[in-house]
Amino acid sequence: MKKKLFGLIAFLSILILAACGGSSEKSDSSNAGSENDGNDIQELTIKFSHVVAENTPKHQGALAMKEYIEKESDGKIKVEIYPNSSLFGDQDEYQNLVANNVQFIAPDLSKFVGQNPQFNVTSLPFAFPSDDEAIAFWDGEKGQEILRSLTDDGVLGLYMWPNGGKHMTNAKKPIEKPEDLKGMKFRTQGGQVQEAIYSALGAGSESIPFGELYTALDQGVVDGQDNTLSNIESKKFDEVQKYMTIMNHNRVDYAVFTNTKFWDSLNEPTKEIIEAGVEKGTEKARSEAKALNDAALETIKERGNVKITELTPEQIEVFKEALQPIYDQFEDEIGADVYEAIRAVSE
Ligand code: LMR
Repeated sequence: MKKKLFGLIAFLSILILAACGGSSEKSDSSNAGSENDGNDIQELTIKFSHVVAENTPKHQGALAMKEYIEKESDGKIKVEIYPNSSLFGDQDEYQNLVANNVQFIAPDLSKFVGQNPQFNVTSLPFAFPSDDEAIAFWDGEKGQEILRSLTDDGVLGLYMWPNGGKHMTNAKKPIEKPEDLKGMKFRTQGGQVQEAIYSALGAGSESIPFGELYTALDQGVVDGQDNTLSNIESKKFDEVQKYMTIMNHNRVDYAVFTNTKFWDSLNEPTKEIIEAGVEKGTEKARSEAKALNDAALETIKERGNVKITELTPEQIEVFKEALQPIYDQFEDEIGADVYEAIRAVSE
């Protein structure tokens, strides 16, 4: 009798819930992607995965984004950030974004040259003197076109977040001139331009995921690598390298990518908050990048593990000349119009 009564109550409860249209719009990353035309902020859990440490512009940008979105949505939207390749690494974060297993990633632009060779822009030698010119390029018409070129994969590029200029570290000898690289092997983030740079300087190269780089340097799989100061410092690459040359020969900059199906599933009030959150993150990453790199240089100096070479303008000129032919080599793939847009912001 009791059992029957419980059964009846349960059955009636289901009927009532169904008649009310369900109890909430709650969804998480696994079911985000269904249409929602309501006027209430959707309850969501958004995942943001990245490969770098916490003391970096990318993580600081992601934190600012999280803080804004969670506050403005009264906690209805949760943002989970996974740094240090703890959820996905370079090898699998893009596929998982495409599969909507993660809703935001912010990978180094140079890791997408397979999808569109124009992402090589960020690796072009000495193209952007500082963050400002790089930001101006990616906010401009050509930059936006490239950022938004992955829609066939279901991926939308929203903004460029800068990290900064790259500098070379290695375990063999100080680098002051192109010949110093001869015979060494360097790790690249990826991409044909980075390979061409090392080959023009007489060195070999191999693309290695960021999460495996410390071990690869430690075990001598490669002799050196190039990166921003905040990445070198926060990942302690100076522990397993002996020399560092301040070069600023190309850059690490990020594309904030989201999944279009997820994006299109957001109703207006929800999208407004997330969009504004991404803007807050963009402001934070852009305003912190240089300061974090400057502070990282001081820390690396204090640790004293690497001998630091600061090239003179004349020494930089020699590298520029050696690498100039790369522009001709990649003009067809990257585009004369893109080169023109770089010149317009950098000269
Ligand atoms: C690297 O792979 O060296 C960097 O692109 C990592 C990052 O995301 O800054």
